[in-house]
Amino acid sequence: MGIRKISTRLPNGGGGSRDWNIRQDCRREDSKELCSEFAIHIANSVQGTLLELHGALGLSGTRLPSGFFKEIRADTCDPFSSLLSAPCSCPGPMQDSAGIFGGCRPFDNSAVALQQGMTEPRHGLGAGWERSLAQHRREVVEETVSQRRGLDAYSYTRYHPMEEIYQWMIQISEKYAEVVTQHFLGMTYETRPMYYLKISQPSNNPKKIIWMDCGIHAREWIAPAFCQWFVKEILQNYKDDSRIKKLLRNLDFYVLPVLNIDGYIYTWTTDRLWRKSRSSHNNGTCFGTDLNRNFNVSWCSIGASRNCQDITFCGTGPVSEPETKAVSSLIESKKDNIVCFLTMHSFGQLILTPYGYTKNKSSNHEELIQVGQKAANALKEKHGTNYRVGSSADILYATSGSSRDWARDMGIPFSYTFELRDNGTYGFVLPEAQIQATCEESMAAILSVLDDVYEKYWGVDSAGKAASSAAVVLGLLFSFMSLL
Ligand code: ARG
Ligand code: ZN
Repeated sequence: MGIRKISTRLPNGGGGSRDWNIRQDCRREDSKELCSEFAIHIANSVQGTLLELHGALGLSGTRLPSGFFKEIRADTCDPFSSLLSAPCSCPGPMQDSAGIFGGCRPFDNSAVALQQGMTEPRHGLGAGWERSLAQHRREVVEETVSQRRGLDAYSYTRYHPMEEIYQWMIQISEKYAEVVTQHFLGMTYETRPMYYLKISQPSNNPKKIIWMDCGIHAREWIAPAFCQWFVKEILQNYKDDSRIKKLLRNLDFYVLPVLNIDGYIYTWTTDRLWRKSRSSHNNGTCFGTDLNRNFNVSWCSIGASRNCQDITFCGTGPVSEPETKAVSSLIESKKDNIVCFLTMHSFGQLILTPYGYTKNKSSNHEELIQVGQKAANALKEKHGTNYRVGSSADILYATSGSSRDWARDMGIPFSYTFELRDNGTYGFVLPEAQIQATCEESMAAILSVLDDVYEKYWGVDSAGKAASSAAVVLGLLFSFMSLL
């Protein structure tokens, strides 16, 4: 029933040609293998191969019709199907070739480098992907306009299901196209696309990067709400607010609003207090890796579990999960330019510095504490909320494999985990009535950190000033000598 064998070429001569079995009626109840192969293929596609696919699926015409993605969505299991419905899930346990994973076939992120290249026109692969992404964006926007309210009606004081966050990302990057772009980062275990937003004021200035991710833990809903708030605040104010304008002169912001998309959706559909990802283990008998125990730093040594039933399950190996692979490979490729790594959680009202895997302190620990304490003071000024500042091992608990520690050990100087409100009254289920105040105060804290980072690298006290004061001293010395 409706299986077509089609042949495609990967772009840039890479990979040669390849046959794909596309099952046109591949729906959720159908074979995961075929579905996810198709998903991978779409993720790797550029315009040329999309056109070939298009032809192979028997759709006439030489350019992609406006309904292209809708047709794909209706008949198959492409990664963008998650915009409208859950992606395909497998009918039963299944082993991959390595025999490691039970359940659904995991996405192979070895293709991530290629995908990232596609978002960057200078790599030469970019244009086609950008065009097909743009096509996809138009589709979703059309739907959004006809079915839903636009960006102006988007509420930043509500929690949003994932489909709305996907749509928000598209809308915000259309509305503020001059400063924000949406980039493909990788696929989740359940083959949903991960996107980050890049906020960048065009200029010839070489920029440094601020990274912020939210929602690595599924149930911590206030974190994705904050990422969206942060993006909104920057975009609404960058033209008039001199503080934000200044930051954007030398800094680009990379914001990943929901890192653990599969888990986040699961907290909406099934279990509000789910924490981990949704990868399948032990022949489908238990699910989920704690993505914040899965990074490649002192992996699974302390504060993490090797039992997949546990909520701190560290995965089957360092960076075993597609989500952590996707984040790690982007950070690694940009590490020399990232000056600050921020990862947003709840709850506990803490600003955590490295490390969690040891009580030892990082080389710039004093500076991290000082910057963190100043941020906590700025935060308290808004609504009187108290935060504590310290290393994770000192003031929360021991954890190995966290992204914060990994980022610091990659050489990123400023690396923090924020544990947002509250202190346990509502815990992970923070009422929507507290979103606004939480975001306002957290914004004050983050801006304080960013001011300090900015000052360190570009402030009057940094290298430029040192050089000019040296010049003044030399000048004085010479004029003094000339008197002798
Ligand atoms: N977000 C935290 C984590 O990464 C959980 C903090 C909640 N527990 C607490 N005692 N505050 O594990
Ligand atoms: Zn957390």
